[in-house]
Amino acid sequence: MQTTLKNTGSNDLGKPVQQYRGLLTKLRAKKHWPTLLLVMLLSLSAAAQAQTGNPVVDHLLEEYQSQGATNFSAANGGRLWEQSVEHSKAPTARSCTQCHGNDIRQSGKHIRTKRVITPLAPSTNPERLTREKKIRKWLKRNCKWTLGRECSAQEKGDLLLWIQTQ
Ligand code: HEC
Repeated sequence: MQTTLKNTGSNDLGKPVQQYRGLLTKLRAKKHWPTLLLVMLLSLSAAAQAQTGNPVVDHLLEEYQSQGATNFSAANGGRLWEQSVEHSKAPTARSCTQCHGNDIRQSGKHIRTKRVITPLAPSTNPERLTREKKIRKWLKRNCKWTLGRECSAQEKGDLLLWIQTQ
């Protein structure tokens, strides 16, 4: 029983689980076993929501879910990635591929500066999707540039899941 509790504690599963952990400690102190068991089952199902094995991405996905996003779809993320979007701020349609390419396991090239952008796929570029601040910054900026608006929580999750699985 104690080992299980310790394992749960060492996982970085975000705020909801931290709350469970606090609750677990209290219940254990009170020897409230049936409730304790229930709470542990609930925290296991929270752990099962971790979707990608990348703790940074999983943490963001949890956050997007708390903002109303439902199940994430890499397929939808891939479609959004390729989609050309006309919007008022640009004379020609824009898409994520214009700077990063269709195959993100390969380098891209910035459409305006012509600078090389190293591959976005973590499978060929392990530094990708490892820094939350960087992901937030660029998703915000690139969604605005490409779609003419910020991405919704659902779209951000779909895109991240797609990128993570390339
Ligand atoms: C106008 C060019 C451009 C477009 C279009 C573009 N990006 Fe980017 N993107 C960049 C640049 C520049 C960086 C930062 C440089 C780098 O990390 O190599 C970046 C970085 C990122 C990162 C950071 C990844 C990490 O962990 O390092 C993500 C995520 C990302 N882009 C997603 C997208 C998505 C999704 C779209 C489409 C909605 C998109 N980008 C469209 C230029 C672009």
